[in-house]
Amino acid sequence: MGKKLLLKNDHITGIQGYDVYRREGGYASVEKALKTMTPEAVVEEVKKSGLRGRGGAGFPTGMKWSFLAKPPGVARYLVCNADESEPGTFKDRYLMERIPHLLIEGMITSSFALGANTSYIYIRGEYYYVARILEKAIDEAYANGWLGQNILGSGYSLDLYVQVGAGAYICGEETALLESLEGKRGNPRIKPPFPAVAGLYGCPTVVNNVETIAAVVPIVNDGGDEYAKVGIGKSTGTKLISASGHINKPGVYEIEMGITVEDFIYSDEYCGGIRNGKKLKAVVAGGSSVPILPAHLILKTSAGEKRLMSYESLADGGFATGTMLGSGGFIVMDEDTSIVKNLWNFTRFYHHESCGQCSPCREGTGWMEKILHRILEGHGSMSDVDLLWDIQGKIEGKTICPLGDAAAWPVAAAIRHFRSEFEDYIKNPKNIRDVKHYYRLNNLVEA
Ligand SMILES: Cc1cc2nc3c(=O)[nH]c(=O)nc-3n(C[C@H](O)[C@H](O)[C@H](O)COP(=O)(O)O)c2cc1C
Repeated sequence: MGKKLLLKNDHITGIQGYDVYRREGGYASVEKALKTMTPEAVVEEVKKSGLRGRGGAGFPTGMKWSFLAKPPGVARYLVCNADESEPGTFKDRYLMERIPHLLIEGMITSSFALGANTSYIYIRGEYYYVARILEKAIDEAYANGWLGQNILGSGYSLDLYVQVGAGAYICGEETALLESLEGKRGNPRIKPPFPAVAGLYGCPTVVNNVETIAAVVPIVNDGGDEYAKVGIGKSTGTKLISASGHINKPGVYEIEMGITVEDFIYSDEYCGGIRNGKKLKAVVAGGSSVPILPAHLILKTSAGEKRLMSYESLADGGFATGTMLGSGGFIVMDEDTSIVKNLWNFTRFYHHESCGQCSPCREGTGWMEKILHRILEGHGSMSDVDLLWDIQGKIEGKTICPLGDAAAWPVAAAIRHFRSEFEDYIKNPKNIRDVKHYYRLNNLVEA
């Protein structure tokens, strides 16, 4: 069994509530930090741990924290990104639902390290019931002296709030999130300035993913060096993976970074193999935004080595033969899956979720959706594949926020690795009924 740092207690009855969480050693990191450490020492441990942000980009957390501006007399904020709207990703929900106090504990310890006296958890609207779970945990934390004024007599005070969004994917982008938290339309901001300098209400702000903040708890409890011993290379610690698709055991798994992709898919400890004894066709390894890889490339690098579940190994080969760990949304597709249909579905999502600020994304995502629909309807032409390629290339890197990249990369990768499937749809139109059926089912007007 792999080492577990976040979900080691998730099976314990009652762990959702304060008493059991505390009995199992909960809130020890707050005690340790507030009673025996300075905020700088906590930041140092996080740096030593090598923890990288679990929201998708994998930016080193300790470094991000050390960029936080500290002008005297100006408030600082920690904002937890619990928007989790990336298709294929549901690990934050699991963590918040099962062990809400782990996130609350991480928020207190991290806020102390950053000198924040007011912090927020911004959670997607569809997770309304999870927001209630968090609010209950926050009430328990206040009642037991872990939040509020002069926590543990240390002189440090913190208020923590949950803010529910309205279910927009774009509000997961950190500056759109801050706009939304301020009560405005969730449009991404132009950077610089980065949130570390001018974030919430123009004040220095750190935005971190749920899992990142939860990981601060074992880092402070055991020390950054201990955390860094788990994992491989610059992918330290454990990672929560949301496993879905055509596997025998979908769910959320905590893995030690560095296990092989093959083990993750086929071993009984994790996904348990492809369902119904089918063959593996492709994997989207890090949420819908990252490039899809065919079976032979996801299992082995282009050098013929077994690919590992780590930032470096999944990225090996660049986008020509590699992908990204992203948010850990691991979507497995069997031999019967239509890559074109899957891509159309993803593209519909990005078109719907584009905030509309940047023309390449606003227009381009819609064009790509229409072309894919045309191909699936049996009205495509061979030049449509090149047109798709052209449009995605005109979106990537040309927008204020990376939603444009997120929409472009899946299109590029599907054409790169599965071009013949697009051509096959164009030459032999098929499955047309399925598309019409999908529109009818979802009460949608055809593009
Ligand atoms: C369109 C879009 C959606 C995003 N959604 C999320 C999200 O739901 N959760 C998240 O943690 N990060 C999301 N991110 C990344 C955040 O902008 C930011 O990088 C992250 O919250 C930083 O936290 P980390 O350093 O702990 O990874 C999204 C980015 C983009 C461009």
